Amino acid sequence: MTDTLLILPGDGIGPEVMAEVSRIIDWFGDKRGLKFDVSEDLVGGAAYDVHGVPLADATMAKAQEVDAVLLGAVGGPKYDNLDFSVKPERGLLRLRKEMDLFANLRPAQCFDALADFSSLKRDVVAGLDIMIVRELTSGIYFGEPRGIIEENGERVGINTQRYTESEIDRVARSAFELARKRGNKVCSMEKANVMESGILWREVVQRVHDADYPDVELSHMYADAGGMQLCRWPKQFDVIVTDNLFGDLLSDVAAMLTGSLGMLPSASLGAPMANGRPKALYEPVHGSAPDIAGQGKANPIACILSFAMALRYSFDQGDEATRLEKAVEKVLADGVRTADLMQAEGGTPVTTAGMGDAILAALEASL
Ligand code: NAI
Ligand code: MG
Repeated sequence: MTDTLLILPGDGIGPEVMAEVSRIIDWFGDKRGLKFDVSEDLVGGAAYDVHGVPLADATMAKAQEVDAVLLGAVGGPKYDNLDFSVKPERGLLRLRKEMDLFANLRPAQCFDALADFSSLKRDVVAGLDIMIVRELTSGIYFGEPRGIIEENGERVGINTQRYTESEIDRVARSAFELARKRGNKVCSMEKANVMESGILWREVVQRVHDADYPDVELSHMYADAGGMQLCRWPKQFDVIVTDNLFGDLLSDVAAMLTGSLGMLPSASLGAPMANGRPKALYEPVHGSAPDIAGQGKANPIACILSFAMALRYSFDQGDEATRLEKAVEKVLADGVRTADLMQAEGGTPVTTAGMGDAILAALEASL
């Protein structure tokens, strides 16, 4: 079985950071025998410029077939005045919707060398490695009824939290599968004390656990207490699974425990395909950063760590993913910094390609 990968660099710094990832993919092919069948295509403004739409049908079809999609970023001032239907973001939204990517994975990982950039104390965050799994396609952002109505002479804003058993079941499975590839521990967060959807959430997560994942350690926590625990002692967690709304908040909190936007990878997973692998889209959390695009300033690490996630969660190459993460850790420990990581420190930052060179050298040294 050949491993297939679709690369969509996109706009702004997307192509710049993706160029570094491509060199790393080639390195794994040459030195570790990981032969990927890689294809590259357009998304976002880059696709609009050529096809008049932010994602061509042929690209969409290709994304449905491959083992993993790796995306850079989309958008930029050049496209700000386009009609809503063809805005670059619509390309990304179409991918997420048509691939039905219901589990959004946001790791919060703290490299020792950057621990002092955190707003929390060094020993609270140093070595942190947790994963938030947020349900992405249902819940209060989608539930009906919704809207603003008139009632008793005033306006009422309405949104509905709504989860079916199958929606909870499938995201719980994603979380348990991930936990088995990590620290084997899941904490499920809801508000079963005040919300019926939370009661059902807790019941279904427990049922999936007892039936199919009894080997994984499961705990339940109210989401507000979870927010407190994330700030107090985040290392108690491995995988956190939660709904769309709580996940939106908790994943942003967790991300900021660890520093720069240029460091944050993500993944969105869907249902298992015929080969047992989940549909998967990997992408950095950051956008196209038009303020620094084309200047060689972008930090490629978020995109490189997104590829490391693909190695672990789509290609069953956990050891090679660790090798890549250790290489990133090594260059940071050696003081190699792109401009976004300089902050209070002095010294000369490296370029995007300079960071790529350093990581490749660290990979080479790992052999
Ligand atoms: P942004 O994430 O592009 O940039 C925010 C700030 O962080 C900027 O100062 C930027 O220079 C810096 N930054 C971001 N990534 C960096 C990296 N890898 N290395 C160094 N510095 C980095 O968010 P912003 O400015 O709100 O949006 C810019 C464009 O990107 C917009 O068109 C927006 O719609 C789009 N966008 C796309 C996303 C995606 O493709 N998933 C996500 C967020 C925004
Ligand atoms: Mg958010």
